[in-house]
Amino acid sequence: MPLSQTTRRGFLTTLTAALSSSVLGSDVPPTPLGVPLRQEPLAFAFEELEPFLNARTLRRHYEEHHANYLRELRETLAAADMTVGNVTSLMPGMSHMAHPPRADSKLPLGRLLSSGLSFQEPQKLSKESLKAIRMAGGGHINHTVFWRFLCPPESGPSGPQGRAARAIVEDFGSVKTFRRVFKEAALAHPGSGWAWLTYRPDGCLVVSTTPNEDNPLMKDHIPWHLAGRPILALDLWEHSYCEQYGEDREQYIDAWWKVVNWEFVGHAYEIVTAKV
Ligand SMILES: [Fe+2]
Repeated sequence: MPLSQTTRRGFLTTLTAALSSSVLGSDVPPTPLGVPLRQEPLAFAFEELEPFLNARTLRRHYEEHHANYLRELRETLAAADMTVGNVTSLMPGMSHMAHPPRADSKLPLGRLLSSGLSFQEPQKLSKESLKAIRMAGGGHINHTVFWRFLCPPESGPSGPQGRAARAIVEDFGSVKTFRRVFKEAALAHPGSGWAWLTYRPDGCLVVSTTPNEDNPLMKDHIPWHLAGRPILALDLWEHSYCEQYGEDREQYIDAWWKVVNWEFVGHAYEIVTAKV
């Protein structure tokens, strides 16, 4: 039996709080957004985003496409003997990423020094590893973020609220203009990729798109004026909509607006603007 609106809202609020607590930490001010090396459980059932995003596409998207990225990332990190708590830490300097000598890689520095082992210059990761981390690491992060910004239709606010709304109005003129700019950017993006609303280090909000599984955290691969921390993400890969909408990306975008979790957008905005 479907949850009533009131119950569902309460359910989502509880889930959002749990998600925030488990992933983001319960400290005040909030700790920065992180992405663990695992798939977070979704805060909704696959069927709950219908009719806007169908359950079959969502299930395949989550259980196959996203899961495959995570598996590939885990295999790549394991092969490089790397232990990662927060996957976003891999993004900013990935073109010159290095790992410790394998024999010492799991020893904290204090134990390393006391063990008598000599410190060696970090070894740069192979091109193949860097390529895999860019694609699979980006894929895992992007999808994790994408799920966080979804919720069942009419289960929350229908647009941005509070400080996030004021920032959007300040930088785009109005929420309506922001929606138009975002949609036009997503429609104009050639092929697979992502559309983003990003909080830049200078405090501006910018709309952008990225190819493949790149994202605004990848400073080495993103123009400086588009790099920052995303507060909204839209998957533009065909696997996210073609089964339901065919080649009609515009119809998909219009449907996606109906299931955007604006409450979480506001939460993300608080986190990226927190002085921590
Ligand atoms: Fe996807």
